Amino acid sequence: MAKLIVNVDHVATVRQARMINEPDPVTAAALAELAGCEGIIVHLREDRRHIQDRDVELLKETVKTKLNLEMAAVPEMVEIARRIVPDMSCLVPEKREELTTEGGLDVVGNKAAIADAVQKLKDADITVSLFVDAEQNQLDASKEVGADYVEIHTGHYSDAANPISRDAELAKILRGIQYASSLGLRVNVGHGLNYINIRKLVPVAEIEEFSIGHSIIARAVLVGMERAVREMVEIIKCGY
Ligand code: PXP
Repeated sequence: MAKLIVNVDHVATVRQARMINEPDPVTAAALAELAGCEGIIVHLREDRRHIQDRDVELLKETVKTKLNLEMAAVPEMVEIARRIVPDMSCLVPEKREELTTEGGLDVVGNKAAIADAVQKLKDADITVSLFVDAEQNQLDASKEVGADYVEIHTGHYSDAANPISRDAELAKILRGIQYASSLGLRVNVGHGLNYINIRKLVPVAEIEEFSIGHSIIARAVLVGMERAVREMVEIIKCGY
């Protein structure tokens, strides 16, 4: 059964809008766990626009399921991860001007730097995942650099403007999942998934984890964190 991993970045986004101490993503993570999620993910961005170093440190102490630290493959972040030792690090591309992570990591074009980051993280006993588009060359390169997992980018599927392109993006993701799995890579998925579009991916046996942030936090603002998480867990567990 696939696991729901909840991204609490946007709780920190609301906090940072006032630069004070509430709402606290650490509290949100505890509520998400009580509601049945099986992991917490946070993205420590280089510009610290939402999650702060203090959040990652506290989450390392308080998360009872598993903690995934999403980060750029840069020396500063690799050193932070090696000090904090989350259960998993998910390496993503990062641009300062973007609203959220916009595309998969170019593993093919940055093989040496990514291989170096992967090795340093694995040396510290951190499981490594690479956020990539569902493209064979990126999946081959992910295997070559020693990743344990790939997180296949579902943003193009989520953002598709019409049913035809949505089906085409879904087919591409499904092919990518099968291909990654045939290489021996373990597979997670994420980006832009919500209470509707996740249903097409729930039956896919190879998916180990769904990494979901915005749609859950958006619902939590209206119905509460525990209900928002529980409703997503139910969709994943019911299989449709
Ligand atoms: N996976 C990765 C690698 C991401 O960068 C993000 C966004 O922070 C997510 C999953 C979650 O995406 P969303 O907030 O759209 O659910």
